[in-house]
Amino acid sequence: MKIPDVAPGGRILGLGHYQPANIVTNDDLAKNMDTNDEWIQSRVGIKERRVAPDSESLEDMATIAGGKALAASGLSPEEVDLVIVATCTLETQIPNASAVVAHRLGIKAPGAFDVNAACAGFCYALATASAAVRGGAARHVLVIGAEKLSQWVDWTDRSTAVIFADGAGAAVVGPSETPGIGPVVWGSAGDKSEAIAIKDRDNFLRQEGQTVFRWATTTLHPVALEACERAGVDPSELAAFVPHQANLRIIEAIARKLGADQAVIARDIVHAGNTSAASIPLALSRMLERGEVRSGGLALLLGFGAGLTYAGQVVEIP
Ligand SMILES: CC(C)(COP(=O)(O)OP(=O)(O)OC[C@H]1O[C@@H](n2cnc3c(N)ncnc32)[C@H](O)[C@@H]1OP(=O)(O)O)[C@@H](O)C(=O)NCCC(=O)NCCS
Repeated sequence: MKIPDVAPGGRILGLGHYQPANIVTNDDLAKNMDTNDEWIQSRVGIKERRVAPDSESLEDMATIAGGKALAASGLSPEEVDLVIVATCTLETQIPNASAVVAHRLGIKAPGAFDVNAACAGFCYALATASAAVRGGAARHVLVIGAEKLSQWVDWTDRSTAVIFADGAGAAVVGPSETPGIGPVVWGSAGDKSEAIAIKDRDNFLRQEGQTVFRWATTTLHPVALEACERAGVDPSELAAFVPHQANLRIIEAIARKLGADQAVIARDIVHAGNTSAASIPLALSRMLERGEVRSGGLALLLGFGAGLTYAGQVVEIP
């Protein structure tokens, strides 16, 4: 047996994102259900969200975000040999999104699989991509978080309709002499699988809001701290904290316990809503685009959601 050449580290080489053009405000929602802007902003922190029309698919959004990440990395499609899409809202189970998106981007016959770890999916996929690069299984990996939650939300259910949204974010991962993606800390709580679920194929996403809120605000900050510790990074060295954009109150609660006062906290949820596996790369890519974070800074990513699942790691911003 021969061991392939391995890379000392993996790093993010480029980021990209895409959001549908259609903006849905809280006042728009209040026209169709018993809710209001004040309640939504104070309980969830969302002012507006993006919702894709029927004509725009999850794969469409993933392809645009992936193409932008590829352009930002400076690589050509031929140089990518693995594509991973993190998603939990495909319209149908097969084919997977990864092979479709790869084909549309002109990436020739890459390994292609989807990851379903719900809102933690991007962090799981990023860790898998980094391991593939470091282990010699792939040279360059396109990792995409893409969701069309609007097709799994009951637009008459005010406990979910005010939260979820559509979008995509992507990263290209490649080899590096020095590590740019820290060790992942991941786990799950299957005993709480009922807390966020789509019960069958004829159903919509339902959640026990308070169960999720309690779990997220009490059990995740140690995961964030452990991800820093395993990367050898003190929270005071972080340039950014980019948690899953679940709910602004959850984000603020975890950020307080992290104690990284100097770090920019991602609050993309205010204008993007909760886009599940897309929210972390979408938020980080938009922060970089707006100049809120700089290339070379360290960002702590922390995904969490249905399963229940969670995963976090420190990355160097490309
Ligand atoms: C969903 C969530 C915002 C609900 O907030 P909450 O404070 O738990 O709200 P409750 O369900 O206890 O309801 C409180 C009151 O607001 C009302 N209410 C619920 N949803 C409402 C809405 N969209 N608009 C207006 N009023 C609403 C309820 O009817 C209730 O009224 P009452 O006190 O007169 O009975 C909150 O539980 C939450 O954010 N959970 C985490 C969800 C999450 O992050 N999910 C994504 C994970 S990836």
